[in-house]
Amino acid sequence: MTQSKSSNIVWHEGTVGRKHRELLNQHRGFTIWFTGLSGSGKSTLSVALEERLYQMGCRTYRLDGDNVRTGLNRDLAFSPEDRIENIRRIGEVAKLFRDAGVINLTAFISPYRQDRDMARNLSERGDDDFIEVFVDAPLEVCEQRDPKGLYKKARAGSIPNFTGISAPYEAPADPEIHVRTGDTSIADGVTQIVRYLCTKGYIENELASAVDAD
Ligand code: ADX
Repeated sequence: MTQSKSSNIVWHEGTVGRKHRELLNQHRGFTIWFTGLSGSGKSTLSVALEERLYQMGCRTYRLDGDNVRTGLNRDLAFSPEDRIENIRRIGEVAKLFRDAGVINLTAFISPYRQDRDMARNLSERGDDDFIEVFVDAPLEVCEQRDPKGLYKKARAGSIPNFTGISAPYEAPADPEIHVRTGDTSIADGVTQIVRYLCTKGYIENELASAVDAD
């Protein structure tokens, strides 16, 4: 569903805009979009990164697949159509958070390249707003970790459409950041992302180094 079903809709602009909110927050609003197999470390990495950003004084919000599927997206399952709709909605929510001047971290398998690109293309300021992080662990590693016991169930045939087993995962061709969680610790993954954010000017170097020095 890409088209609005409503007609006669007129966008209502406010007097307080994204720039004002960003000024107040003292940083830009942008999206850090984690993608990867179940068990690859998306949620763990996003939680650790959020904690680090919080310590730096950043305004953050984390959207996580398992959490959002208990509320906003509880009407969706794992068919290709439902996954597309899942990511479309998250793309829109991420856009709202950018407009709020908040750094939002999304942790969804988001298996289809086209849907991730669709979420990226909602960025008002182009690519700068959207940082795709490929959380890359080989399927064997994810399956061995199996933190929720889901791979075991999927192998036994009791979970249909399970990503990596009976449903596809399309790895990003050109992500902004590639974290190999098979052989990188979560702490090192966080540092890799923070360095990227500093180097590209998303967050101030001084903030990051103040926290580093603690
Ligand atoms: S996505 O493919 O639509 O992006 P999402 O990230 O929201 O998926 O949800 C994935 C989480 O749902 C997994 O971490 C896992 O805990 C759970 N899950 C339940 N069924 C499936 C399934 N068939 N495939 C993948 N994950 C599943």
